[in-house]
Amino acid sequence: MASISLDGIGKSFGRTRVLKRISLDIRDGEFLTLVGPSGCGKSTLLRIIAGLELQDEGSVRIGDRAVDGLPPKARDVAMVFQSYALYPHMTVERNMAVPLVMRRLGALQRMPLLGRLAPGTERMRASIAADVRKVALALGIEPLLARKPGQLSGGQRQRVAVGRAMVRQPAVFLMDEPLSNLDAKLRVSMRAEIKELHAKLGVTFVYVTHDQAEAMTLSDRVALVIDGELVQIAPPQVLYNDPDHVNVAAFVGSPSINLVQATALSEWLASAVRWAGDAGNLDGVTIGFRPERLSICNEGTAGSIAGRIRLVEHLGADRYVHIDIARTERPLIVRTHPHDGPDLAPGATIALQAEPKDMLVFDAAGRRLRKRPCDATEILIARSSA
Ligand SMILES: Nc1ncnc2c1ncn2[C@@H]1O[C@H](COP(=O)(O)OP(=O)(O)OP(=O)(O)O)[C@@H](O)[C@H]1O
Ligand SMILES: [Mg+2]
Repeated sequence: MASISLDGIGKSFGRTRVLKRISLDIRDGEFLTLVGPSGCGKSTLLRIIAGLELQDEGSVRIGDRAVDGLPPKARDVAMVFQSYALYPHMTVERNMAVPLVMRRLGALQRMPLLGRLAPGTERMRASIAADVRKVALALGIEPLLARKPGQLSGGQRQRVAVGRAMVRQPAVFLMDEPLSNLDAKLRVSMRAEIKELHAKLGVTFVYVTHDQAEAMTLSDRVALVIDGELVQIAPPQVLYNDPDHVNVAAFVGSPSINLVQATALSEWLASAVRWAGDAGNLDGVTIGFRPERLSICNEGTAGSIAGRIRLVEHLGADRYVHIDIARTERPLIVRTHPHDGPDLAPGATIALQAEPKDMLVFDAAGRRLRKRPCDATEILIARSSA
């Protein structure tokens, strides 16, 4: 088992600065997910931890030792790639055995014919086969051991790739979008398997994904990287409910958070938003509402704002209602249960309500404003009862 410590990791490709002094401590046994827009440097960071790429500055520690300069095989990490990187001409069994063969057999013992004559080879090969079988049983792929990758489904290939990483019993698993080649349904079931695997093995996982649901459900903590910088690292719920920056709020959550210029809401939430701007100056201030934190009410309800329904999306368990309100560029999206509230149809006029405690306020630079939030509640209550 091992913790990972990144200290000021920087990396450029040519003139492009891909990672800008990233520092990050990952706890022993933690499941940490790296998320961020395409090209922000997630894979590069993972490859630096693995030793597949060298950083320009900064240092990587795994467990209690600095691993800078150590080759991948000396770092006690195993990596699972998006493409699985299985050898197409080898059976599943041989694919899974590769890391053990490389580690346990000498160069002579690995040779196809001569190797068999070398002392100890047979015994070593038998113990490798037994280890491979044990992992295959755990992953439910034992019946596939004699097949080649071309004869497997995507999900089966994915399991083989995880199995190949597992046989070495690494202290750290590094996974780069391991589920991205699977269809939506299979992703969900493989997601659960990865979570169980982590619970069972209890080792450190660093996981890269584009998929919000994966990041939210799997992780102890999520690290959001934008443009090579670590923007926030926190448990998923904190990232979602208590973001430090408007970019974090906008990246996390689907449908996305509703972001509105405070000036457009000054009549609706005048007093409530005033605390956010210096001396009532709301220029550049943005207010965010999560779709499930807005509610639809009858027109004229105290403390509400009038709107007109533009579009209703039915998703089975949820319903997304797009609502135009005055002076905003885009409609606000409200998430409701299909059976909640009135029958909502495009063109209908309704009103929207929000609790001040559910508003996320950001300054002109995008930084979260948390200044005296209790005031906001008090003011709005005073206003609606006036
Ligand atoms: N070997 C390389 N040579 C030059 N540029 C590279 C190299 N590897 C990555 N890059 C660039 O570095 C940046 C970060 O790449 P990286 O693969 O880490 O992004 P990512 O966050 O994993 O993106 P994605 O989500 O699309 O996989 C990109 O702009 C990419 O084009
Ligand atoms: Mg990548």
